[in-house]
Formats: sequence, C-alpha cells, structure tokens
Amino acid sequence: MTSPLANIYARLPVSFTHGQGVWLWDAGGRKYLDALAGIGVSCLGHGHPKLVAAIGEQAARLIHTSNIYEVPQQTALAARLTELSGMQEVAFNNSGSEANEAAIKLARYYAYQRGNQHAHIITMDSSWHGRTLATLAATGSDKARKGFEPLPSGFIQVPYNKLDAVRAAGDAEPRTVAVLLEVLQGEGGIRPSDIAYLQELRRLCTERGWLLMIDEVQSGIGRTGKWFAHQWADIRPDVMTLAKGLAGGVPIGAMLAAGPAAGVLTPGSHGTTFGGGPLVCAAGLAVLDALESEKLLDN
Ligand SMILES: Cc1ncc(COP(=O)(O)O)c(C=O)c1O
Repeated sequence: MTSPLANIYARLPVSFTHGQGVWLWDAGGRKYLDALAGIGVSCLGHGHPKLVAAIGEQAARLIHTSNIYEVPQQTALAARLTELSGMQEVAFNNSGSEANEAAIKLARYYAYQRGNQHAHIITMDSSWHGRTLATLAATGSDKARKGFEPLPSGFIQVPYNKLDAVRAAGDAEPRTVAVLLEVLQGEGGIRPSDIAYLQELRRLCTERGWLLMIDEVQSGIGRTGKWFAHQWADIRPDVMTLAKGLAGGVPIGAMLAAGPAAGVLTPGSHGTTFGGGPLVCAAGLAVLDALESEKLLDN
C-alpha cells in the first residue's frame, strides 16, 4: 500500500503507544529505553506528572487566544527565562528554525536601523540552524542545502572554533553585523567549542559592534548541566535561541535578546499566530519548575 505520508523520513518500523519516564512501549507490549528522547525534546521523560497536570489544567481552561491580547502564561515564562539567562526580553514562536529565523531577522533589522541594508552574518561550518530557507543558508551543511537554491544571501561560513577565521571574515566583509553559532554543535557531531574561544568571540563581537547570537536549541534547558551551555564560559550573548526541551514536547521556540539586541524588534516587524500561547507556556513553566525543584541540572 502506498503511504499517505510525504516521503520525507526513512522511518524505523516501530511506533509507540505510551511512555513513562525513560521508557516507551510499543503495541505488542515491548519495552524500550528511550535514549533518543524525541531528539533532545523530552527532557522530563514521558508522563511527568507535573507536566501532564499543567497541560491538562491549561487545556481545560483555555488553549489559545492570540498575541493581540495579554497572555499571562507567556509573560510568566518570559520572566523565568530572563531570570535564568540574564537576557532581557523574549519573543516566542514554534520551533528551533523559527527561533533562528527570528534571530536572523533581528540582526538584519539591527543593521537596517544603522544604515546597513545588506547585513552579513558569520556562521560556522558543520552547524545546524534549521530547515527554513534562511536557516538553511545559515546552516553549514551542503547536503541539507542542495537543491533548494537560491537561498537568502548574507551568510558567511567559517571554520568552527577558530577565532582568526571569524576576524578575517569580518575584515573582508564590512557589512558584517552578527555571528551565529552553537556553542556545542549537535547535528554536526557533538562538538563543544573551547571556553577561551567563546570568551574571545564575545570580546571581538563587542569590539566590532556585532551581535553575538547563540543557538541553544539543542544545548539549552539543562542539557549540559547548566541552564544554557554558554554559561560554562561565563558570557552573555546578545541573542539566544531556544526550542526542543523548553516545553517538554509541546512545540515551542523562543528568541531572547539583551544589550544592543533588546528593543530592536518593534510592533509590526515580527509576529506569530501560535507562538507563546497559554497551553505551551503553561507546559514551559512546568518544565522549568520540575528541572529546578527536582535539581535535575545536578544530575
Ligand atoms: C542547534 C539546532 N538549531 C536549530 C534546530 C532546528 O530546530 P527545529 O527542528 O525545531 O526547527 C535544531 C534541530 O535539530 C538544532 O539542533
């Protein structure tokens, strides 16, 4: 029988009926250790009582309104995230790609407000930032990009973890406005950057007036034992993106801004129908509460 699904995935011939903690069960009752965790998403495991209760209670009360109105759960989640990260403001969306797309838009708007109408962003070889057109252009994978050209221009890829390469790229392109990187590359093969590199990169960005934009979609929300992986280097980025584990499996993305990046986006410059809705933000608050109260970062 032909599948009604678009042929995007070479799926494994297994599906699951339920899960509990680190375990999943298939329809035949076979038990599996879930080492994939939904590709870095199910940070509380399956069926966590606090997350289940938060989703159930919020679903019964109110699932969706709109960003035309105040959304108290969104404000509360933004407050928790800014408190944990030292960032200043949060724009919610629905995925890691969308969070990075928002970061790219922010960098371009920041440049535009300063008279630079063709902003360039330095990104890294072997990086992964998503599958929308702009995030593909930022991503350092020829394989993912192949067949989807022309992609948006304005991205310069340099070798990862090499400060001189960033400096040289910026010298060669005076319209450079930002550097976007994962401090711990995920899809590129678990590759951490050096602490000294990150600290020097922070200094270089400040010196040149570039935004330091860190993609913590995969490395954030406690994955490395700190709330955000860049905190190991004791630096603060100007932009940080989050998704995956932030709401424990309910689709979410977030772009956080601070310092020169705060206040760049204004009403009408960006937006979303679903992003930051009551249901997903209630889930996000429950995830952060559970990570904290159960001291999971220490584990
Ligand atoms: C570092 C990083 N950024 C962005 C993305 C894209 O996120 P999404 O698949 O939610 O669009 C991923 C996905 O694997 C990722 O690992």
